[in-house]
Formats: sequence, structure tokens, C-alpha cells
Amino acid sequence: MNETQVADRVNWVGYVDWSIRDFHGYETTRGSSYNAYLIQDEKNTLIDTVKGPYADDLLRNIQRHITLDKLDYIVCNHAEPDHSGALPVVMASCPQVELICDAKCKATLERYYDIRHWKIRVVKSGDSISIGAYSLQFLETPMAHWPESMATYLPECKLLFSMDAFGQHYATSGRFDDSVPLAVVLEEAKIYYANILMCYERPVNNALDAVKSLAPEILAPSHGIIWRTQVDKILSAYADWSVCKADRKVVILYDTMWQSTAKMAHTLYETVVDSGVQCKLISIRATHITDIVTECLDAAAIAVGSPTLNQTLMPQVAAALTYLMGLKPSGKSGFAFGSYGWGKGGPEAVNEYLEKMKFNILREPLKCQYAPDEQALAACREAGGLLVKAAELVG
Ligand code: FEO
Repeated sequence: MNETQVADRVNWVGYVDWSIRDFHGYETTRGSSYNAYLIQDEKNTLIDTVKGPYADDLLRNIQRHITLDKLDYIVCNHAEPDHSGALPVVMASCPQVELICDAKCKATLERYYDIRHWKIRVVKSGDSISIGAYSLQFLETPMAHWPESMATYLPECKLLFSMDAFGQHYATSGRFDDSVPLAVVLEEAKIYYANILMCYERPVNNALDAVKSLAPEILAPSHGIIWRTQVDKILSAYADWSVCKADRKVVILYDTMWQSTAKMAHTLYETVVDSGVQCKLISIRATHITDIVTECLDAAAIAVGSPTLNQTLMPQVAAALTYLMGLKPSGKSGFAFGSYGWGKGGPEAVNEYLEKMKFNILREPLKCQYAPDEQALAACREAGGLLVKAAELVG
């Protein structure tokens, strides 16, 4: 079996994007791929397409296996343009093709493209289409992570085309989980989950239950590598991530102007580490938001520090908290901290974000004026103890 063959008569025909480093704000340091799959049967079927600029690459890859006039169906599992962007070119190149999608996907595609001349068959969960020896079963997974999100199952191969779920932004020459270091692919899957799916806890759990009931042996997502030898590992990881399961871990996020909030952050950090609890000390200004939210996914407690600037929090802290708030981490404990001068407002503004995120607030904002003296540092050590206790509750 070569590196593009996923199963008997099923081939990867997507595009590996080695150079992308920004995916609508998500920093993709290892690139990405847009996975499309060709099933060769009595009815040749393409599962998803690729981002618009790579439509010709997709057509070329399809033609390694069949001529374009032999393509019968395209399944569109998801209308987001990184997977549907090539549809106009492919539909124009293959006018005989029937596009298969759910009703919400059709409505979304209609907003993005001129679909008036496309042949479209609308399907729903539980529907099945025979394509010869194989059949396609459709599983709608609404809000995991768009309203029209859908997965397609090929039961004869126990192969689930899972769309974004279980994917990773990871450009590789290998296509499978056994072609790459497992720790790296799991790390990228976690980053992907935290940045794309964290806020859809219930829909992801529903989708996960449905996926488990199928007992697939191959998970073929629309980004990154295909899971075939470590399916249990990624399903188990998703079970944890989908409930924001906390490790015995504390995260301390901070920004600083004149090192006062930094000193408070370091004192909190030392207190937590001295107790034997894992702790990540993160300078918000030095760390991309992609990595910040990934560290928060499995943290039990998160302390967020900002000095007071113009009676509110620092802009970089606001940006990180706005991003985190949108991703709705659940079940986190924590508190705000930071310094102020003549006017207050930084730590208080951070506290408002934590309240909006429904944090279990461990204490009122921890503050010091201008620079922390021994009394303020002692208060930091005491507050660090609260973070330790919160982490030990889960460990
Ligand atoms: Fe990879 Fe939601 O698109």
C-alpha cells in the first residue's frame, strides 16, 4: 500500500500546504493539509475538496486514478472554504457530477458560490447511498464545528471521513499516524482541538458518541494525518478534551510593564512548583494565543495577571482573554492579579473576564501598588497555595 492509499480503492487526493502559518489567526507552525479522498467504485466518489487556490492540484491528483468525466459524486461534509473552496472549479470541470450534502450545507454553499447549475442531492443522518460494492452512510454532526458539519462512513472499510474532527494542522509527506512521530501528531491534534473545537463541548460529545458506536478502524480527517493504528489513542484524547478534563496543572498568564506583575507571576509560579504541581508560566506578550489556549485546555487552575494601564488591563492580555473567552474553557478555577499605580483597574478588568468565563474564582483580585514589597510577595505565596489546592482537587 502506498502513502496515498487509505483502503482498497480509496486514495488520498488532497493538498499538503507546507507554507501556511496563519489559519484565521491560529498559528500553524507545522503547516497543514486539506485532505480529499477518492473512492473508486461503480460510482466514483470524491469526499470533500481543498482550499480554492489548490483546485488544480486536486484535479491533477484525481486524474492519477480516473479521468474527470468518470467522477460521479462529490460529498461535501463541510462548507468552510478550506474544504469547499475548490468546488466551483471542480464542478465546472466535471459537469456530470452530483454533489451530496446536507440541507444546511446546501444553504451555506449557496451563500459562498453560484450553485444554480450544480446538481445537488440533499442527505441527512441515517441516509445511505450505494456506490457499487461500497456504500456511503451520512452522519450529521451539527456545530462540531459548523451547523452543516457532517461525517461520511464507508462501512465496508470501517472508514470514517470525519471532516475536521480528529484533524491536525500538520504538513507531512506521510499520510498516516504510523508515518510520523505519535507525540507530534497528538500535540498538533490537541492544539487543533483547543483552537477550533473547545467551545463546542456538547456537540463534540454527541458526535463522539456517534463515532464510537460505529467502531471505525480508520479515521480520515480533513486536515493532517489519517488515524489507522492509533484510533483508540485519539478517541481517548478526544474524550478528555471534549469535557476540558483537567490535569494536575496550573497555568499562570501575565503581561508586565515594569516587572511588578512579572515578579508576582514568578512568585506564584515558585509556590506552585515547590508544591510539586506542574505549572506553566506564560508571558502573554511572548506567546502566541494559539499556544496560550492550548495550555489552558487541560489546566485545573489559571491565574491571569495584568498591570493597570489607563485604568484597565493591558491590550495583549485583553486580546488573549477575548480569544480564550470565545473558546469557552469549562470547569476552570483561578484568579486575577497585577500591579497598579495611582489608578486601579487592571486586575479588576481581568477578574471580569474570568467571571464571564464562569471560572471558579478562588479569591478577589490580588494586587500590589507600583512594586511588590515583602508583604505583597507573601500574599502571592498564599494565593499560590489556592492554585495548588485547586490542582490537587483533580489530581
Ligand atoms: Fe477545516 Fe472547519 O474547516
